[in-house]
Amino acid sequence: MSDTTAGLLSQIAGTGRDEVRGGFSRPVFSAAERELLEWAREQCTRRGLDAEVDGNGVLWAWWNPAGHSLVDAVVTGSHLDSVPGGGAFDGPLGVASALRAVDLLRERDVVPARPLAVAVFPEEEGSRFGIACLGSRLLTGALPAERALALRDPDGTTFADAARRAGLSPDRIGRDDAALARIGAFVELHVEQGRGLIDLGAPVAVASSMIGHGRWRITVRGQGNHAGTTLLADRRDPVVAAAQVVLVVRAVAAEHPDTRATVGRFQPVPGGTNVIASRVDLWLDVRHPVDAVTAQVVEEIARRAADAVAGEGCTVELHEESSSPTVAFDAALRDRVSGALPGAPLLATGAGHDAGILAERVPSAMLFVRNPTGISHSPEEHVEDDDAERGSVALADVLQSLVG
Ligand code: GLV
Ligand code: MN
Ligand code: MN
Repeated sequence: MSDTTAGLLSQIAGTGRDEVRGGFSRPVFSAAERELLEWAREQCTRRGLDAEVDGNGVLWAWWNPAGHSLVDAVVTGSHLDSVPGGGAFDGPLGVASALRAVDLLRERDVVPARPLAVAVFPEEEGSRFGIACLGSRLLTGALPAERALALRDPDGTTFADAARRAGLSPDRIGRDDAALARIGAFVELHVEQGRGLIDLGAPVAVASSMIGHGRWRITVRGQGNHAGTTLLADRRDPVVAAAQVVLVVRAVAAEHPDTRATVGRFQPVPGGTNVIASRVDLWLDVRHPVDAVTAQVVEEIARRAADAVAGEGCTVELHEESSSPTVAFDAALRDRVSGALPGAPLLATGAGHDAGILAERVPSAMLFVRNPTGISHSPEEHVEDDDAERGSVALADVLQSLVG
């Protein structure tokens, strides 16, 4: 009897726990994330899959009993890195379900007539190097290798150095058409990150679309100075100005229905209790189903932020770090997935996923599993054991219909 999906997840429940923030912090190339990748590789090997980590740090584990050449494969998987203080399911549920689905197919005596692979993508969250879905963007060429290699984490370590320390070779990082050419279909199972399935009263949904999203770094500059000797009238305090920028973000978003705009990181520099900061770095995340609206929202934020900070004698700059358009998942694959899951609703997602990046190059699909709290990117993210198992059975049904 193989492990259930919840049983597999319980094996990694102690890895990367964050005692300060709560939940899990598993940034790419950290000890915790490497331990998880080793766990995934070991689980694949134990199942007789042929596991390799490619030049971009993507784990591929092949089940190819008929010895077909590696083309037109069905690939399933997700990621193991997390946001800071994230939940237990965002990413790992898709990996554990992929492993469980392989077990279920074996129990059903399915012998794949197409190669099937489990895949794990690095830095999906962009928590360490700032760009979400970094591994899949590198693979597809959506992000040039030179740009990725020069990215720095908050400690100043470059992606090139961190990758090297993780055993990757920087000159092998980048677009990999040969790896992509092996994929006939990619199916990612993911915890639902909103309330869609609660409201629908269903455990599993098929993705219809993924809304476009982008990230911008905002720099507000003022004058660093002494907290005790500088009178209020003499200050150019970028923290006060940056607070106004956050309010501008909320106000502009509220004027454009269906916009989601977030400042989730706000860093005064140098950051001392008795120091008026010289600069504040803020990171802005904007999402809207219509890409032109996202662009318009960001343009308005930039314009109104400049006015808002001027009163404090500060300046503001916006710099785009990444953007991804709204994706409608491949209709033919989506219909096949839905055909294998009678009654499963279609659901759009406001979250970003590697499947959305891969969708630009290969037919991709997603399954979502109910999250009874409706909360994600937080320790309160949850999936009931029964639903996790229903998700794996659904994934096995989908894979069976694709490889049979
Ligand atoms: C990842 O979950 C994202 O949507 O940013
Ligand atoms: Mn996430
Ligand atoms: Mn995710």
